[in-house]
This record gives sequence, structure tokens and C-alpha cells, in this order.
Amino acid sequence: MGNPIGIFDSGVGGTSIWKEIHQLLPNEDTIYLADSKNAPYGERSKEEILQLSIKNTQLLLQMDCKLIVMACNTATTNAIEHLRLNYQVPFIGIEPAIKPAALHTKTKKVGVLATKGTLSSSLFHNTTKLHTSGIEVFEQEGRGLVELIEQGLVNSAQTETLLRKYVEPMLNKNIDCLVLGCTHYPFLIPALLKIVPKNVQIIDSGLAVAKQTKAVLEKHTLLNKNLGHGSKHLFYSNQNADLLKSFLNATNAEVDYLDF
Ligand code: DGL
Repeated sequence: MGNPIGIFDSGVGGTSIWKEIHQLLPNEDTIYLADSKNAPYGERSKEEILQLSIKNTQLLLQMDCKLIVMACNTATTNAIEHLRLNYQVPFIGIEPAIKPAALHTKTKKVGVLATKGTLSSSLFHNTTKLHTSGIEVFEQEGRGLVELIEQGLVNSAQTETLLRKYVEPMLNKNIDCLVLGCTHYPFLIPALLKIVPKNVQIIDSGLAVAKQTKAVLEKHTLLNKNLGHGSKHLFYSNQNADLLKSFLNATNAEVDYLDF
């Protein structure tokens, strides 16, 4: 068996990224850490997000992971530079898909829904500045959404009400692209489709992250060559393994509680 890909998020949201990675790289083993106990990261200070990211990274390295995917925009935008400088293993991060939105928009108005931690990071500011000249960007904190998803309330009236409150003002500004800048939010797409008209494209970064993971594994000759054993997937939650399991349809997934 090859070494696994390590993936972490502040909770269950990063399973949206795990799905894309597993689909593109079905032979790769994976270990996923859901740090639900410490969610939401988005309301924490940069230093706290950094320390939590270090903790998750060190555990994945103890588990012999060959590459780490930070399946969390908030952790990436606040900690990836530090992690890359301090650890040998390759890191893949996820950032709000501002560039594709800027290329796609016709109204020259783009909405971004993300956590406070992501929107206030200098990485997000720099990326936005780089790719959006001549484009108006409307930033909206999704305060409370991660908490609702972490309680399994994805399809609740409460979640829909909050989404309307956040998204309708951006629609009134005539955006035609809505960037989902948090890996929890793709689970809200069914609810969003009730709110967002057809001409507005909802954009997330999941597939791009999976493609980047593949490219980096290839570059470092780390792809699993040991085929035929069927891939193995371990999922750990430090709060609610049943909730984590409910976000996965994978039959061969082992989901357990782990104190980390
Ligand atoms: N999934 C995380 C992200 O992509 C959620 C952050 C949080 O826990 O607030 O930003």
C-alpha cells in the first residue's frame, strides 16, 4: 500500500473536497481529519487558526501522509505559508475561486460568501486585488452557516433564512457569479438554487483542488503505483463521527471518533 493523502478541515465541510479527490484519484488512500470540536475556525484569530492547522498537520504526518490537503479556505488563507516553510511535505490549499469568477462575469459584479477568517486574510486580499481589476467584488461573511452545517441542519428553514439574508443583497447588486469560499458551503447548493436565479453561476474550488492534488503528486512522483488492493479511507472526527459519516456516501469509508 502507498502512503495516504492527508486531508483536514475544521469539520465536515472538507468532505466536499475529499469527494472530488477520490473521484479523480480513486487509487489513492486517504485520511481525513474533521476538527469539528474547534469549529468554526472562521471566527478565530489568525494565531489560533495557525496553531490548529499545525496540530492537524502533525497528526497527519504521524500517520505517514505523503501530501496534505488543507480542505479549508480559512486554514489555507491564514496558515499555508507558515506550513510550507516549516514542513517538508507538499501542501495543497483551497482559496475562494475569485479568478474563474472574474473571467466568467459579464455584469462585472461578483459575490463572495466566505468566513470572516478568510475574508480578513491578506492572502485573500492579495488574490482578489490581482484578479479583479475592473470588477466589483461584494464580500459577505457567512456567519452562523458553518455552525448550522456542523449540527446537520443543512436543509433547515433556519439555514435558508440565513442564506437569503446573505445572498439577496448581493443579487440586488446584479452579481452573476457567486463564489462559495468555504468548503462547508457546497452542501448548501440545493438551498441556494431556490434563492439564486439561473443566470447566476455558483462557483466553488473543489475540482480545481483535486486537479492540483493530482498534478503535485505526479510532479513529486508520489502517485500510488500499488494498484489492485482497492483504496482505503479513514475518517476521524473529534466530536461527532455519526455526523461525519452522514456526509459520506462511500461504503468503504471507516469513520471513527479520535481525540485530537
Ligand atoms: N470549511 C472551512 C472553510 O473552508 C470552514 C471554516 C470554519 O470552520 O469557519 O473555510
